[in-house]
Amino acid sequence: MSRLLPDTVRLDAENGVLLAIDQSKLPNSLELIALKTPEEIRDAIRALKIRGAPAIGVAAAMGYYLAARNGAYPDTDSLTAALKEAKAVLASSRPTAVNLFWALERMDKAFHKHHAAPVGEITEALLAEAGAIRDEDIAACRAIGEHGVKLLKDGCGVLTHCNAGWLAAVRYGTALAPVYLAHEQGVRLKVFAGETRPLLQGARLTAFELSRAGIDVTLIADNMASRVMRNGWVDAVITGCDRVAANGDVCNKVGTSGLAVLAAYYGIPFYVCAPVSTIDPKTPTGAGIPIEERPGSELTELWYREPMTATNVRTYNPSFDVTPRALITAMVTERGILKPPFGMELFL
Ligand code: MRU
Repeated sequence: MSRLLPDTVRLDAENGVLLAIDQSKLPNSLELIALKTPEEIRDAIRALKIRGAPAIGVAAAMGYYLAARNGAYPDTDSLTAALKEAKAVLASSRPTAVNLFWALERMDKAFHKHHAAPVGEITEALLAEAGAIRDEDIAACRAIGEHGVKLLKDGCGVLTHCNAGWLAAVRYGTALAPVYLAHEQGVRLKVFAGETRPLLQGARLTAFELSRAGIDVTLIADNMASRVMRNGWVDAVITGCDRVAANGDVCNKVGTSGLAVLAAYYGIPFYVCAPVSTIDPKTPTGAGIPIEERPGSELTELWYREPMTATNVRTYNPSFDVTPRALITAMVTERGILKPPFGMELFL
């Protein structure tokens, strides 16, 4: 698949920084930010400068490595303490996407495996592990594209939500990887991007990256999805996800479950694309997935010149919701296309 954009997150090990596309500036300017400390990376994730489940995981792994790379540790004990702290800081950035915790656990395991080695060697091992997590993410997204493209017929309409494209991973994305591959293979698609209130990832990011790739994309407000489906313009809904529970319930950007209900009503297949690192065997059902709540000002003030709501109005701003497995037609991972019932094969 071709290179549409710089990698969303990249390690500059020589200078000890993480270089990331600042997604809060898109689509108006494509800027890279350089982040050095776990605190800076945590803040960038909280502010959605780095966002999307796979990208958050890779950034956390890089942040863990940088904590080792950028400190002066006379012995393994001081490095151990610093990495424990770095892990806690990075883990506190956002609660829902499991890739973050998965990546930190992998880094921790790599650290403990090399614990007895000199500090320099441990740091090298952490660099290798962060690099492996990044490389695996790229390969997984590419494979999701190769499997998922089989679900898309020439001339079909696709509705997607939030941004599960290039910007949500290191490259290619999850839900949009099949779309990019279809486009490269000459399969004509018409993509509808839901704007994704309140942070507008669909309007700002998905519409940006698809139009930049020359893919036919139409922006709709979230409340237009039913109309567009009713018009017969949608042959498939494709989204990414932030965490899959062990029973196959799927947590993704708020609004996803509503689209799944609509898709079931209109008889439209609903596909979820995610790397295996998004599957959380420790959470039995969707009810156990922690849902991030963000400030009400994202609803009432952000994007407006003046507040759009009377003062003192209560707000509720959950960032994610859970789609029950019964509404999912198929899940696409790097290992293939999984059909219900989603059981142990999720983990094989
Ligand atoms: O709040 P965000 O922008 O990080 O939410 C992202 C999503 O919900 C994506 O759909 C999800 O991370 C899948 S990304 C491949």
